[in-house]
Amino acid sequence: MLFKRIRFWTVILLLILYVIGILILTAVSLHDTRGSYKSGSSIHSRYNSKSRSFDYGLPGFKSRLRRPKVNWCTDLKYINPPGPAIALASFPGSGNTWLRYLLQQATGFHTGSVYKDYGLRKNGFPAESISNGSVLVVKTHEWGPRARCNFSKAILLVRTPAAAIQAEFNRQSGGHIGFAAPDRYKRLRGRYWQDFVVSQLRGWQNMNLDWLLNFTGPTHVIFYEQLVSNTEHTLRTVIEFIDIPVDKKLFKCAIDRKQGIYRRQKRVLSFDPFSDNMKSMLKEKEIKVLDAIYNIAAPAAR
Ligand SMILES: *[C@@H]1O[C@H](CO)[C@@H](O)[C@H](O)[C@H]1NC(C)=O
Ligand SMILES: *[C@@H]1O[C@H](CO)[C@@H](O)[C@H](O)[C@H]1NC(C)=O
Ligand SMILES: *[C@@H]1O[C@H](CO)[C@@H](O)[C@H](O)[C@H]1NC(C)=O
Repeated sequence: MLFKRIRFWTVILLLILYVIGILILTAVSLHDTRGSYKSGSSIHSRYNSKSRSFDYGLPGFKSRLRRPKVNWCTDLKYINPPGPAIALASFPGSGNTWLRYLLQQATGFHTGSVYKDYGLRKNGFPAESISNGSVLVVKTHEWGPRARCNFSKAILLVRTPAAAIQAEFNRQSGGHIGFAAPDRYKRLRGRYWQDFVVSQLRGWQNMNLDWLLNFTGPTHVIFYEQLVSNTEHTLRTVIEFIDIPVDKKLFKCAIDRKQGIYRRQKRVLSFDPFSDNMKSMLKEKEIKVLDAIYNIAAPAAR
């Protein structure tokens, strides 16, 4: 009887401590939020500094609390009259949100999506869920005939599979700008991450090859890595492909604000999450997709 009581009160005490702990953590991160936004700096700085230890363990929680408002170069409009529907096709984790952000900044037009991501809709992408020619481009991660049939042109955004898969892993546990805690890679003795890599890699290959080989409309392929290293040039090629006039002032403003709020800062893990076996799988599929890209882009060179 006495033991039961002690156990009961111990549980209650632990619960109270747990709640207090959560409250303290929340207060700390809210405080941190205000601190880093007031300076008007990008979201990046805080990942390098003191908040690091608080990023673990509360998946997706803080990134939502902390997201600042986007500073648009101009008010966003719909395309009127609507043009052809253009797909922004990419495997998840390949930087499509960042590209949408850049396009909206540089052109002043909304971008849409075949999804209804509530967070994105509330934070800079009010045309989320619109998938016709009244938006500049329509985000899609889908493939197959039904996914392709409504589009007359496509921008295919390709990122190396290792980076895309890791970004998607981060997104699934940390939100659009958060991170997966390092111990998530070790879940189920690493099986969880292993299975994730294998199934995502299959998707990465299918998605990219399907758009490359089966989509019949004009297709513009860009690499995420190029968008990072040469943002200005790559963004310009995308806008030219979409075929709308470039407003010099807006374009410059977009480049000045290219950081945006949706880029996940690089965070180096203390270990390499990809085993040798995974790396050779990744390389093999990557080469398949690159072959398809170069054979389509330069058929004469074959
Ligand atoms: C595009 O989609 C939106 C939302 O579904 C709809 O309100 C609008 O009328 C559509 N525009 C065209 C041109 O189809
Ligand atoms: C394609 O467009 C038609 C007509 O707007 C719509 O009914 C259909 O659901 C769309 N298909 C897909 C796969 O989005
Ligand atoms: C292209 O489409 C065909 C028929 O729908 C399909 O069987 C094939 O898997 C597709 N190719 C790729 C690379 O997805």
